[in-house]
Amino acid sequence: MAFSKNVERLQPSATIAVSTLAKRLASEGRDVIDLSAGEPDFPTPDWICDAAVGGIRDGRTRYTPVAGLPELRQAIARSLSERAGRELDWTGVVVSVGAKQSLFNACFSLFGPGDEVLIATPYWTSYPEIVTLSRALPVLVRGDPDRGLKVGPDELEAAATENTRGLIYSSPCNPTGAVYSAGELRAVAEWARDRGVWLIADEIYRPIHFGDPPGHAAGLLDLPPSSLGDHVLVDGASKAFAMTGWRIGFSFSSPEVAREMAALQSHVTSNAATPSQVAALEAYGRRDRADDAVSRMRDVFRRRRDLVVGLFDELLPQAAYVPPGGAFYLFFRVDALFPDGVQDGTAFCSWLLEETGVALVPGAAFGDDRFARLSFATSDELLEQAVRRMARAVAG
Ligand SMILES: Cc1ncc(COP(=O)(O)O)c(C=O)c1O
Repeated sequence: MAFSKNVERLQPSATIAVSTLAKRLASEGRDVIDLSAGEPDFPTPDWICDAAVGGIRDGRTRYTPVAGLPELRQAIARSLSERAGRELDWTGVVVSVGAKQSLFNACFSLFGPGDEVLIATPYWTSYPEIVTLSRALPVLVRGDPDRGLKVGPDELEAAATENTRGLIYSSPCNPTGAVYSAGELRAVAEWARDRGVWLIADEIYRPIHFGDPPGHAAGLLDLPPSSLGDHVLVDGASKAFAMTGWRIGFSFSSPEVAREMAALQSHVTSNAATPSQVAALEAYGRRDRADDAVSRMRDVFRRRRDLVVGLFDELLPQAAYVPPGGAFYLFFRVDALFPDGVQDGTAFCSWLLEETGVALVPGAAFGDDRFARLSFATSDELLEQAVRRMARAVAG
């Protein structure tokens, strides 16, 4: 069947494809350890769920303004203002159906035919597709292997042309877990400012940071305002509050850009689901409880990070990895592990799933198929079993 030019280059999300296959094998009775998931394995905190249920019972079941409940936008702006140490305009906040829609709103509103958009690589799997859907050209900028595959002004400058209009990156990074320091962020932000390039900063994993002391990773709003040119910050409730299914993300930008993005959203989805917004209002409005829930999750992820890294060092020393400073992923080289006949990460992951039941996401989904991504958002016991199975399989 012939589909339109709009979608002719579109690929389904590779990360979702692997977890779907793993779920299917499990439902057929295979002993599968699924390390492909991109979501916390914790339930949404009860007090957030209770707020949503109360909201439904109180009749908060109708449309809200497209950009979200004003009180939710204000609560988000308050938490951003606390971070920034200055008052931020709440009308710059647009609440969307997940951070994914905020990225789509930003790219669709800011980029179009003839524009090139730099993407820090390895990248989160949807960035190039969202840029392509906006009819702009994604340009992959490979990060420096000596700096956790992060990009800096040198790599960006080498990739930029007169058509470059944007740069997208995530920190903490999905898939590597690498975290940009405040100094690194500042260098990237000032490069974008000086080049007149829109900076799209995806900070959805910012609270999941294992630095010393643990706490939020550095973000755009920690920088002096003078370092920032045009920018859109993207964040959301999915990872921080274990709320992936509620579909609440947001962007923060100038009110002018926010209005344009809301206009676009008004024709795509309208507002994010109202009961989900009521839940998010509780999460963003109750900072004390929220900080407590986030820090408990962060401690568990940190312990699992230490466990997985320790197991890799002991059992798979030939598999080099990016040391994860945040998020819940280990991005490791699989090309040193290939059995006979396997030549790329995609084939390796299929072989591994067949041989051991361990499901990983091939690096091709993130722009580098010499790697695979393991998610440690699962129990210690399963993580240990999975790494032991992998080590046995590659030893032959
Ligand atoms: C880096 C990154 N950005 C954005 C998203 C999308 O988040 P949401 O589920 O809120 O749409 C994800 C989800 O995996 C992600 O990993």
